Amino acid sequence: MEKTTEKIRVELGERSYDISIWSTILDGLGDALKSFSLSPRIAIVSNTTVYPLYGKRVSDSIKKAGFNAITVTIPDGEEYKDLLWVQHIYDELLKAKLDRSSAIIALGGGVIGDITGFAASTYMRGISYIQVPTTLLAQVDSSVGGKTGVNHKLGKNMIGTFWQPRLVWIDVDTLKTLPLRELLAGLAEVIKYGVIWDEKLFDFLEINKNKILNLDRDALTYIIKRSCEIKAEVVSRDERESGLRAILNYGHTIGHAIETVTGYTRYLHGEAVAIGMCIEARLSTMLKFIDDNKVLRIKSLIDSYGLPSKMPTDIDITNILSSIQLDKKAVAGEPKFILPERIGSVKIHKGVAEKSIKDLLKS
Ligand SMILES: NC(=O)c1ccc[n+]([C@@H]2O[C@H](COP(=O)([O-])OP(=O)(O)OC[C@H]3O[C@@H](n4cnc5c(N)ncnc54)[C@H](O)[C@@H]3O)[C@@H](O)[C@H]2O)c1
Repeated sequence: MEKTTEKIRVELGERSYDISIWSTILDGLGDALKSFSLSPRIAIVSNTTVYPLYGKRVSDSIKKAGFNAITVTIPDGEEYKDLLWVQHIYDELLKAKLDRSSAIIALGGGVIGDITGFAASTYMRGISYIQVPTTLLAQVDSSVGGKTGVNHKLGKNMIGTFWQPRLVWIDVDTLKTLPLRELLAGLAEVIKYGVIWDEKLFDFLEINKNKILNLDRDALTYIIKRSCEIKAEVVSRDERESGLRAILNYGHTIGHAIETVTGYTRYLHGEAVAIGMCIEARLSTMLKFIDDNKVLRIKSLIDSYGLPSKMPTDIDITNILSSIQLDKKAVAGEPKFILPERIGSVKIHKGVAEKSIKDLLKS
C-alpha cells in the first residue's frame, strides 16, 4: 500500500496544531491552508538560498488554492535574524495590506522560522504563521514548539515570544539540497531525542546510518516523525519551559558555552550540542547516574555520524565556565544540567560544584 503523509498533533488546547511529514508534499500546501479561514492575502518569508530552490512551488501551490501570495526575501545568515530585518518584514506586510486574518509562511531553516514566527506574533498583535522547515534541524526542532525570536547585539535569541504556528508542513525531499554538514548538525538533535526519551529511536540511528545518510525517505520520515512526536509531547506538557521542557536542552548547557566562546563561527549549533552531549554524559558518569558503557554508546553514535565529540584543546576552560554560569537558563549563576540515566531517560540536575565542572572540562 502506498504510504501517505504522517500526521502528528501538538496538543495545546485551542492552539493545537498538526505537523505533516512526507515527501513531495510541498505542492499540497495551498490546499492544506484552505481549512483555516484565512484572508486571501498571504506572505511567504524566505531567504536568498531557499527561495530560489522551493519558493516557486510553494507560491504556485498557494495561488492555485486561491490566495494572493507576496514574497519577502531576506539575506541568508544568522546575522540577519535581528530587529532590523523584522522591521523590513513589517514594512512589506503593511505595504501588501496583510490583515489580522492573514498568514505568513516561513520557508527555510531555523533562522527564517524564528524571525518569521516573531514577526507573526507581533504584527497587528499576532497573526497566523505556518512553518515550512527545510533544514533537518528546523524539521525536528525549531519549527515545533512555538519559540520565536531574534538576536540582540548583546546576546543570541534575547528578544522573543512564545507563539505557536497553525501548521508545520515538512517535505523530507527538501533535505536533498541541504549541505551534508547542515544535515549532520540536525542529526545531533535527533540523537538527543534518542538519549532523552526513546531508546528505540537511538537503536534505529545506530542500525540505519547508511539509509539516513543516503536520504532514504522512509528512514528520514521515521526519525523526523519520532523527533516531532517527542518534542510535541514535551511541549504539550510544559509549553513555557517551567519544568519538563528543560530536558530538550541535553547537551546544550556546554554546547551553548562552546558556541559563545568560539563566537558562533567555528561550530554549527548541532555540532556544539554533539560535543556538549558527550561531555554532559561524562558528567553523568562522574556523578554515578549512568554506566560507562552507555556513555560510550552515546559517544560512538556521535562519532559514527562524523560529528565532533571532544572539547577542542585550544579553548580556554575558564571562558567556558563563565559562559555556563552566564547562560540565560542558569539560575543565579548555578547551571542546570540535563544528565542521562540510561539511553532513553534523563534527569534535570542542579548544584554541580564548580570544581567538578572544571575537572570534567580539563579531563
Ligand atoms: N525556535 C526554536 O525552538 C529553535 C530551536 C533550535 C534552533 N533555533 C534557531 O534555529 C537557527 C538555526 O537553524 P538552522 O540550523 O536551520 O540554520 P539556518 O536557518 O541558518 O539554515 C542553515 C543553512 O541552510 C540553508 N538551507 C536551508 N534549507 C535548505 C535546503 N533545503 N537546501 C539548501 N540549503 C538550505 C540556509 O539558507 C542556511 O544557509 C538558529 O537561529 C537557532 O537559534 C530555534
